Amino acid sequence: MERMSDQRTRMPWGLYTVGGLGGLLFGYDTGIISGAGPIIQNDWRLNAAQLGFITASVLIGSMVGALAIGGLADKFGRKKLFIIAALLFIAGGFFCMFSQNFAEMSIARIVLGFAIGAASSLTPTYLVELADKDHRGSVASMFQLMITIGILVAYFANLLFLNHNIGGLADWRWMLGSELLPAAALMIGSIALPESPRYLIKAGKVELARKILEKRLKRDGTQEIEEIKAVLAKSQGKGTFKELFSVSGKSVLVAILLMFFQQLVGINAVIYFVPKIFQSAFHFSSANSIWISVGIGAVNVISTIVALGIMNRFNRKSLLIFGSIEMAISFIIIIILTLALGVHSMGSAIVTMIFIALFIIGFAVSWGPICWIMISEIFPLKVRGLGTSIGSAANWIGDFIVSQFFTILLVAFHNNIAGPFAIFCAFSILSIFFVKYMVPETRGKSLEEIEENMDEKKKKA
Ligand code: BGC
Repeated sequence: MERMSDQRTRMPWGLYTVGGLGGLLFGYDTGIISGAGPIIQNDWRLNAAQLGFITASVLIGSMVGALAIGGLADKFGRKKLFIIAALLFIAGGFFCMFSQNFAEMSIARIVLGFAIGAASSLTPTYLVELADKDHRGSVASMFQLMITIGILVAYFANLLFLNHNIGGLADWRWMLGSELLPAAALMIGSIALPESPRYLIKAGKVELARKILEKRLKRDGTQEIEEIKAVLAKSQGKGTFKELFSVSGKSVLVAILLMFFQQLVGINAVIYFVPKIFQSAFHFSSANSIWISVGIGAVNVISTIVALGIMNRFNRKSLLIFGSIEMAISFIIIIILTLALGVHSMGSAIVTMIFIALFIIGFAVSWGPICWIMISEIFPLKVRGLGTSIGSAANWIGDFIVSQFFTILLVAFHNNIAGPFAIFCAFSILSIFFVKYMVPETRGKSLEEIEENMDEKKKKA
């Protein structure tokens, strides 16, 4: 008991929190554009496709940013690239705030996307590499927690700036400009953060890695260093894309599918569009629908905090399957009720809200954090940056597909959410089989043990 509490006080949570700041930027932009987008559309008289592109341009930039950063992170380390991502973020945020027309805004948002994509690939790898094996699930969940906090804080920032044209600058410019704050935090944080010890050992700087493990991460790293060295000694090559596919082809497939399923269960349809659906289908005022966003955001943060607490206690696969079942049941009940009660009654609005909250809880304790943790865990150190960047790019592609097709689907189903929700429900059910048959269990094993296991399986196959 004494040892447990001793261990708890020694865990450097402050450092892990700063390490997760990349997630804050990711979430913050998701939340801000949902508030700023419609106002820009009004001010500049954009059509729906142009507004869609302003939202989606970040996703395109993120795919590119995520893919580009992986190889660089394996070559130059995680820390330097965090600094570059923060600089890009500051530049992108600044250009967004002052852009004068649709073309400038789209370019600025693509630059912002580079930074967000880079951060989404770097942060999970970095956190997974900092943690010890017993706490890795919770530590790496900091990324997801930061995403959800970012979304929620952005909703409040939207409320704060809405209709206030401070200093003659339109409210939406302040909303976008406020992204400079988390970007500056990432910049300062990145300078203060230590390099990943695993990267340092790979780069031959073993003594520096030992120092970071002992002084900053507060643990004796002797055994860890030996394990990492042993695994590195066995693996050859320079960590190229070709090697990634030949050494870890299955991991690449698992990472891509994990991320596709994470998006195809429809989380961002709920986050981006549900408040608008309440406005149009249930005749909520726009002020009330903003509070629905805040409610969704708060449930998301609170359940992610719960996830952080339970992540080390349950197998990743069990949590994923639990989440899939919980999400599928929530969808089925919403579908039945909206079909039975009609889309306009207050009763169905309340019930829909309750089951949307349950859907978010199911996602937040499972697919939300775990996919980001696993896309880093399942790759060997030599190609971890590259592998994670492919998983991360898959996440952005999935997000792009859902956000582009959701509104089209909604129209096709005469504005009845039962239609698109049935598709998300089908993906939730399919995901159970994917997890059962394809995803490896990684909890409680060191990254080096996971690497050896994957290697053995490959040799047997
Ligand atoms: C997903 C994001 C999503 C967020 C919501 C993340 O894990 O990748 O697309 O917006 O969770 O909490």
